[in-house]
Amino acid sequence: MGRVRVHQHVNPLAPYFRFTPEALSLEKSFEKPQNPLFLDIGSARGRFLLQMAQDHRDMNFLGIEIREPLVDEANRLSREHGLTNLHYVFNNAMLSLDKVLENLPPGILQNVTIQFPDLLKMLRLLFNLFQVLQVMRPPKCVVIQR
Ligand SMILES: C[S@@+](CC[C@H](N)C(=O)[O-])C[C@H]1O[C@@H](n2cnc3c(N)ncnc32)[C@H](O)[C@@H]1O
Repeated sequence: MGRVRVHQHVNPLAPYFRFTPEALSLEKSFEKPQNPLFLDIGSARGRFLLQMAQDHRDMNFLGIEIREPLVDEANRLSREHGLTNLHYVFNNAMLSLDKVLENLPPGILQNVTIQFPDLLKMLRLLFNLFQVLQVMRPPKCVVIQR
C-alpha cells in the first residue's frame, strides 16, 4: 500500500477536532503494559517511533497525532512489523492530551518528545504539556526540538 495522502495542516480548533478521546489503556495497547512509556506528540507518519520501537523492545512507544489517516497508516505499519510495543492514537494534543493520559500509573511516562512543531501551535501545546506534567509524576526527559 502506498503513502496515505493528507492535508499538510489542519485547524485544531475546528469542530471536528473538539472531541473527548478515550483514556489510553496500556493493557489494550501494548503487550507489556508495565514497561516505561515514551510519548511522541505530533508523530505524523510515525517513522521516528517505528525505528525507536525496533531498537528499544523494553520500552513502549505512543504516538499522538491529529491527522487521523496518518494514525491509521502508522498503526498498520506497526502491525506489519510485528511490533507489540508501538501504538498511535488520534488526538488533538492542544485540547485533550490530559484525557488520553489520565489513567497512566505514576512514573510510567519517562520520555516526551515534540519534534519540529509549528511555531504558532507550540505555546498552546507547551501549556497543555505542563498541565499533564502537573497531574502526573514528571517524566524523566522532555525534548522539544525545532
Ligand atoms: C511539523 S510536523 C512534525 C512531524 C514529526 N514530529 C517530525 O518530526 O517529522 C507537526 C506534526 O504535529 C501534528 N499536529 C499539529 N497539531 C497537533 C495537535 N494539536 N495534536 C496532535 N498533533 C498535532 C501535525 O499533524 C504534524 O504531523
